[in-house]
Amino acid sequence: MSILNDKIQAYIQDIQATQIENIQDRAARVEMFRVKYLGKKGVINELFEQFKTVPNDEKKELGKALNMLKAAATNKIEEFKAFVEEHQTQESTNDLTMPTDFSELGSRHVLSVVMNEIIDIFSRIGFTVAESVEIEDDWHLFSALNFPHDHPARDMQDTFFVEKEEGRQEVALRTHTSSVQVRVMENNKPPIRIIAPGRVFRNEAISARAHCIFHQVEALYVDKNVSFADLKQTLLYFAKEMFGEQTQIRLRPSYFPFTEPSAEMDISCGICGGKGCNICKGTGWLEILGCGMVDPNVLKACGIDPNEYTGFALGMGVERMAMLKYQVRDLRLYFENDLRFLKQFDSIV
Ligand code: DAH
Repeated sequence: MSILNDKIQAYIQDIQATQIENIQDRAARVEMFRVKYLGKKGVINELFEQFKTVPNDEKKELGKALNMLKAAATNKIEEFKAFVEEHQTQESTNDLTMPTDFSELGSRHVLSVVMNEIIDIFSRIGFTVAESVEIEDDWHLFSALNFPHDHPARDMQDTFFVEKEEGRQEVALRTHTSSVQVRVMENNKPPIRIIAPGRVFRNEAISARAHCIFHQVEALYVDKNVSFADLKQTLLYFAKEMFGEQTQIRLRPSYFPFTEPSAEMDISCGICGGKGCNICKGTGWLEILGCGMVDPNVLKACGIDPNEYTGFALGMGVERMAMLKYQVRDLRLYFENDLRFLKQFDSIV
């Protein structure tokens, strides 16, 4: 047999032995394979050129062999292409230079959005964020805040106690962020102007209107000559920033152990404009927060001289703020992680 035929047979064997599994960068390799055999200056065209010069009596057999080679190369390429196509998706996940798959953007939880907004509003008038522990002792939760020993908040029914050992201070999940006031006053000298956002815990049955975990923001301002007028102006500023320029406020006398005098603030109902609706229960007003002048006993307990300094404090529930701002009717929605609920706040950054 001629040398040419030997060459052709060797190529055919080579083609048939080429396994796609061995090819790493498949698409590029397939193309290289195609160029090598079927390209303009490829093996097969070159062999056809040589074919022209072979003696006539060898042409029949060589022609047949050449056509077999061409068919083998073409078939192999078809086989490779099908394989590449089949593995395209797998291929693309392996290619680190490929752009990533589109994934939906998440959004902040509505409670974070509202909490950040409250922080923003207060930071614009010089309040800085203070944070503290969620597991607190009796002193910071109650005693330093002037709670009498028999106050119902100290009861198991309201408070989750963590530890109750003979002769040791009781430790509980904090029931309010007012405990941060105490920690800040113990460790800093006035002027103090802080805002304390955080999670609080109460032993409540979960319903549309109550939850055992919720969030509060506490504010505290202690300095010389801080007056009730400062508190009132701060409240008005906050209400307008949070609920709109047209918002009005009113203060009702109230009682908290740690403030004297104490008040609760209402804002004019933004839903009905004060005419009365089912949100404000027909009153035209919505209860928003508790506040007051820091009780001198609290200042004293925290090492601040009440004859030299005065202060105001206020505390609000974040869930309630979000309820009023976005008309959320059921507290449980905040914690259920139902995307149909969460997605409604997508556009809020
Ligand atoms: N700690 C109170 C509560 O959990 C809220 C509160 C009321 C905080 C009046 C204050 C305040 O600072 O002055 O219900």
